[in-house]
Amino acid sequence: MVLGKFAIAASFAIVLVAYWLLRVVYNIFFHPLSSFPGPRWAVASYLSEFYYDVVKGGLQLKKVVEMHERYVGPIVRYNPDELHINDPFFYEKIYAGAGQKREKDYNSQLSSGVQFAMVATIGHDLHRQRRGYLSSLFSKKSISEIEPSIQAKVDKLVEKLKEAHHMGETLIGVLVFGALTTDVVTHYAYGKSFEELDKPGFPCRLEHDVKGMLLSLHARRYFPTIFRVLTLLPEWALVRLNPDVVSYLDLDRRVTQLSIEAINSRKSEARPTKNANLFDALTDSSIPTHERTVQRLKDESQLVLIAGLDTTARFLTAVVCYLVTYPDTLAKLRAELHTMTDKQESRPTWSQLETLPYLTAFINEALRCHCSITSRFPRVPLEPLVYKDWVIPAGTSVGASPWLLNRHPDVFPDPDAFRPERWLEAEARGEYLTRYLVTFAKGSRGCLGINLAYAELYLTVTALVQNFDMELVDSSIANIIPVRDFALGFDKDYNFGVNFRISKVLNE
Ligand code: HEM
Repeated sequence: MVLGKFAIAASFAIVLVAYWLLRVVYNIFFHPLSSFPGPRWAVASYLSEFYYDVVKGGLQLKKVVEMHERYVGPIVRYNPDELHINDPFFYEKIYAGAGQKREKDYNSQLSSGVQFAMVATIGHDLHRQRRGYLSSLFSKKSISEIEPSIQAKVDKLVEKLKEAHHMGETLIGVLVFGALTTDVVTHYAYGKSFEELDKPGFPCRLEHDVKGMLLSLHARRYFPTIFRVLTLLPEWALVRLNPDVVSYLDLDRRVTQLSIEAINSRKSEARPTKNANLFDALTDSSIPTHERTVQRLKDESQLVLIAGLDTTARFLTAVVCYLVTYPDTLAKLRAELHTMTDKQESRPTWSQLETLPYLTAFINEALRCHCSITSRFPRVPLEPLVYKDWVIPAGTSVGASPWLLNRHPDVFPDPDAFRPERWLEAEARGEYLTRYLVTFAKGSRGCLGINLAYAELYLTVTALVQNFDMELVDSSIANIIPVRDFALGFDKDYNFGVNFRISKVLNE
């Protein structure tokens, strides 16, 4: 009897291994991508990607870079079904506008953690529909209308930093700026600020939650069932597994509650003339009922929070690093801002700040240099793409990591040097490098929050330059250089960012 069971298990194992070996042979020799350059160990199966991303911790991107070097080419096949193209002049063909259909692949949906949000929507048409519900809320006009509330939060940050200076506190970059970005996003998207800036010592739990979500991204892709089962466990069991999970559950509960309230209040209220926040927009009566479920609202609103929080906080942290490391740059920024404020009585607005050439060059260079957006962000074109001598079959996942593209030497010579001047020099030659800045991705699935992000960056960088001298504490520029890729980059110790202190307050 026991022998019988063993024989069944052994036969089953033999069938599995045989199937896997056949698959390996198919992937290497007969797959539609078999003629594309890529090492056999990488294209034979997903084992190597699993090893580098899950076991070694986000190191597959490093392997992709090595593959580009080894094949001395801009196109590589880095797993059985995906291609990576490192060519700034082909980028817009992959990340095309709405005229060309671009889908997401199943792997991206699995790792997103927000299955019903637009970012994880596989189909082109459904994605377009879902993005359309929110596009006017994130337009430049809408963001300009809320500028006073963003400015008020930046002012609060300045006051808190002055207090920190008096107390001699050392500050953790991503937590300080995470508090600011959380308050801005929650105020705008949820209609209620989470008031993180009011909490003493910038604890910003949400920033920890987002980090946890990012670090589980690769594992979620390979073990989606485990993560689904985990979310079904009672809270006490989860807390035993990992006490940090409490704050994530708290966020999940808060967002679920806000979603339920939004749906219920829409039922009882007359239609508002204007969608004031994300929930208003997502419950608009013109949206089909099956798209107005609690799950949809919850996933979409979590996406906006997660997408807008850590990304912008990271760039502001990098800004501190650059302002401290390059005093000449800081002096030029101060001089330019002085010239503007001397000429006008009122404080400069976001749109006025955008006209300042050096400040704009500085922000672009900060978004480019050491860009911590490391994901490959694959897109699935529904038509074949012709790239040089290659024809990429329709339905293939093709990605291009901003981290590599923003440092491509053909467009940005001496890419690791932080030089805002490169943007001004290029403009004087009639070249507009912003076309090649892909930090926010581009096309029909590019960043929806780009206007909000720019408004936050311009107003906050101005406030830091005008008010403070800063110094780094036990950290350096090395702490913002990505080594590990979990969609956003982390250093070798799975951290990101610098600690700093305010060394002088200029406007007491
Ligand atoms: C410096 C700050 C930011 C950077 C670098 C950034 C970058 C990106 C990138 C690269 C994508 C494409 C993701 C993909 O293809 O899967 C994206 C998508 C998105 N971002 Fe941002 N983002 C930033 C700030 C924000 C803010 C402030 C918000 C809103 C509060 C936001 C909301 C979104 C949304 C909703 C999407 C999904 C768009 C879609 O699927 O159509 N982002 N962002």
